Amino acid sequence: MKITLTNRYIPAILILAVLAIGNFFINDYGLNILDKHGEIINKSGRQRMISQKALLLVHMYINHEKQDALVELKQLLDTMKETNNFLASTKLTPELKQLYFTNNLKKDIDNFIQHLYNFINNPVKQNNYPYEKVSKLLIKLNKAVKLHEKHYEQDLNFIKNMEFILLFGILFMLALLVIFIFLPTKKAIESKIKEIQKQQDQIKQKDLDILSQVKNAQMGEMIGNIAHQWRQPLSAISTAVTGMIVQKECEILDDDIFFKTCNNVNKQAQYLSSTINIFRDYIKEQKELKTVILQDRLNNVLKMKEATFTNNYIKLINNINNTEPIEITMIIGELDQVIINIINNAKDILEQNNIEKKWIKIDLAQDNNCAIITIEDNGGGVPKEILPKIFDPYFTTKHQSQGTGLGLHMSKDIIEKSLKGSLKVKNSKYGAMFIIKLPLG
Ligand SMILES: Nc1ncnc2c1ncn2[C@@H]1O[C@H](COP(=O)(O)OP(=O)(O)OP(=O)(O)O)[C@@H](O)[C@H]1O
Ligand SMILES: [Mg+2]
Repeated sequence: MKITLTNRYIPAILILAVLAIGNFFINDYGLNILDKHGEIINKSGRQRMISQKALLLVHMYINHEKQDALVELKQLLDTMKETNNFLASTKLTPELKQLYFTNNLKKDIDNFIQHLYNFINNPVKQNNYPYEKVSKLLIKLNKAVKLHEKHYEQDLNFIKNMEFILLFGILFMLALLVIFIFLPTKKAIESKIKEIQKQQDQIKQKDLDILSQVKNAQMGEMIGNIAHQWRQPLSAISTAVTGMIVQKECEILDDDIFFKTCNNVNKQAQYLSSTINIFRDYIKEQKELKTVILQDRLNNVLKMKEATFTNNYIKLINNINNTEPIEITMIIGELDQVIINIINNAKDILEQNNIEKKWIKIDLAQDNNCAIITIEDNGGGVPKEILPKIFDPYFTTKHQSQGTGLGLHMSKDIIEKSLKGSLKVKNSKYGAMFIIKLPLG
């Protein structure tokens, strides 16, 4: 599964945002409505109380002739009038509408107020507002308070329901997020991690394969060199011993020849033994970190490759300047390996292209705290189209049995990663030219 943001995250987040905004507005709306209801219920309750108090003030005036009562009554009537207009103009439920307008509560209150205003203007000793009317008005006012409270309950329930729906919506969206986004994403990430781990394991395995192939190649190279060094003394031993056998059979073997031949065989055997020691030391030395003279190392490798040059009629042009020794600290076997790889490649190309006067030239220069080793051949160069690929692992133009395509890849790896230098190739007038740059100190 692809992990994309646009697919599912954006609509899910948008829906959640809409729900959250909705929740905010419902809360805000609810608070306003409940505030308004509070005011309405309060005013409607006071309307009922004021009407009773007004009648009480009328009685106080009639019975005790208190002028103050009329002043207070006037104030109460003003408030009652204002409240009556306010309540009748609010948003009413059908039941309240019916009470205020069809059942004439508003009109009854207006009449009641008007009657008492008239009383203030012309205070007589008797209140002629019928008791029955007052009682009816009070019942209606009571009913109004109850209906306002009911209206409030209805709105409260509506808000509660809306809040519940929004809360449910948010929880539902969160559940969808978990089921359709988080869980699949977790799964996808886990499988991606597994895939990456698998790839890393494969890369590690490949590296190990490469290393073992390179080691095999190095071993083959070494055995080839030993064989070359041994060929001559072995044939000398064989010739000497065979000669002695023939002489013995012909009964012409005298003591002098016998001892001479034996000494000679012994000398050759010691030479064989010393060759083995040289190679053993060489192999041991390969892995050590040492400060060495670069010229010595290069000359050493070239000596090791002497057999390659002579057997293949290749002229070695050694331009290494020995007068100014260059010191370098490194694992010495690594550079040797690179030089050997490049020389082997040059030998293969010279042979493959049937070059008549084969040569390989090696140069060493020092520049800006860098040693520059150049190895050039006259094999015709690397074809342009494969030039960018020759350092790739397993790239080879040779037959499967002849080349693995790892030589240059490993060489570049060694020079760049271990020796912190660079390995580049270009074509010269005569053939390929490999340039190794090594930082000094
Ligand atoms: N001096 C050269 N001149 C022309 N082409 C070269 C030269 N050196 C290398 N090449 C090209 O680069 C390719 C890759 O070389 P590399 O050493 O990596 O592998 P290989 O020689 O083919 O096999 P091996 O792993 O056995 O060395 C060679 O197959 C060859 O085509
Ligand atoms: Mg090679």
